[in-house]
Amino acid sequence: MRNPKILVLDRGEELATQLQSLVDDFRPVPEVVSCTRMGAVAEVLENDGPFDVLVAGPSLGTRSGLSRLSLIHEDQPAMSLVLAFSRRPDASLRDIVRTGAVDLLQLPIEDKELVDAVERASVLSRVADEAAAAQVALAAAPLVTADGSVPNQPARTYTISSATGGCGKTFFATNLAYFLVRYTGKRACIVDLDLQFGEVSTAMRLRPKFTIFDALQREDTDEDDLRSHIEEYTVQHETGVWVLAAPREPAEADRIQPPDVTRILEAVRKQFDYVIVDTPPQLNEATLAAFDLSDVLYVMATLDLPSVRNMSVFLSTLERLKVSADNVKLILNKAESDVGIDIDQVTRLFPQGFESVLPYAKEVSRSINLGMPVMAASPQAEISRLMASGMKPLLPLEQQSKMAEATTPPKKSLFRRRR
Ligand SMILES: Nc1ncnc2c1ncn2[C@@H]1O[C@H](COP(=O)(O)OP(=O)(O)O)[C@@H](O)[C@H]1O
Ligand SMILES: [Mg+2]
Repeated sequence: MRNPKILVLDRGEELATQLQSLVDDFRPVPEVVSCTRMGAVAEVLENDGPFDVLVAGPSLGTRSGLSRLSLIHEDQPAMSLVLAFSRRPDASLRDIVRTGAVDLLQLPIEDKELVDAVERASVLSRVADEAAAAQVALAAAPLVTADGSVPNQPARTYTISSATGGCGKTFFATNLAYFLVRYTGKRACIVDLDLQFGEVSTAMRLRPKFTIFDALQREDTDEDDLRSHIEEYTVQHETGVWVLAAPREPAEADRIQPPDVTRILEAVRKQFDYVIVDTPPQLNEATLAAFDLSDVLYVMATLDLPSVRNMSVFLSTLERLKVSADNVKLILNKAESDVGIDIDQVTRLFPQGFESVLPYAKEVSRSINLGMPVMAASPQAEISRLMASGMKPLLPLEQQSKMAEATTPPKKSLFRRRR
């Protein structure tokens, strides 16, 4: 992964200086270029680019400044634009939206907030690049998938569950959805069935206008109606992943019955290619309704005795409920070597084996901070690579080989000289 390049465009030097002083807080460390002459911007873009992020300072906060930015964005759509203004520009909201900016910052700004915003913009720029490359690769991809499913069938459905809280279900769900979108170019929707305390929107920094509850409030709807309108209740993350959010209030959640969950899932499955269901800890009726429709059921545990013991109980319960064990895959998360419990010991307890053993990784909190799946924010991190190899068999064969090409690390360009 090459080091990101950031262009700061502003008549004053302050913003560039602030960002320059913070480069060591970024991973990887970016190169910051400052351009203080508006007339020179085209030349800088041409000679020093491509840039991942353009940070536009307060002197661009005019109508003409914004329209200049729209033109730049049209010309270089993969470069993420961040606006950093000291006051609301004297222009309409529409002019601001037209620039295609991914963020609008208010100056003066705290260092941490600036780093997060620019880092996030940089991830988005890379994701956009990769998506464009994937689209080219996908044009040649066959229509039948490796597992034999064909288009227009209900979506492949993956449910993520665990016996205890904090195992990383939401973390895994967001990454799985991102992975599927990234490598298939198809439409994936996360359904947040942690109805009381759903955190998918928070983890992805989304502000859904509607939730599952609202979708169920449609009056006299038949199934076709719900299906054709379900997308209106979802919200899309910048990585392309769609989310049908959990209700805003526990009281709303209480009013959702298992048959409602089935209706929602059936509708979502008809409108998307992949459905990823996040669930609350423990088994409840809504989760069981999701299991019934799932192709694969992931059960997660962390590397501690209560979690492992509860996973055992959870699995025996599934057996009693006659959930087919073929579809169950186990994930051990937050595995650390020095916690006084041995990974081998745990794996021996589960003869079916773990599909993945994922380490505790600091990149995860960093990605949560950015509202990004860790596989998007830190694709080269060990945890991202481990997850990707565990998820790879879910892809159609053609994409599996494309993925092998895409994940070979590029040659380092750290020492490339600037002209
Ligand atoms: N492998 C990991 N390394 C570090 N932190 C992790 C890891 N997996 C999950 N986390 C963090 O642990 C917390 C709980 O994870 P979460 O996905 O919310 O669990 P659940 O949905 O099962 O309750 C979150 O803050 C998440 O970012
Ligand atoms: Mg959760």
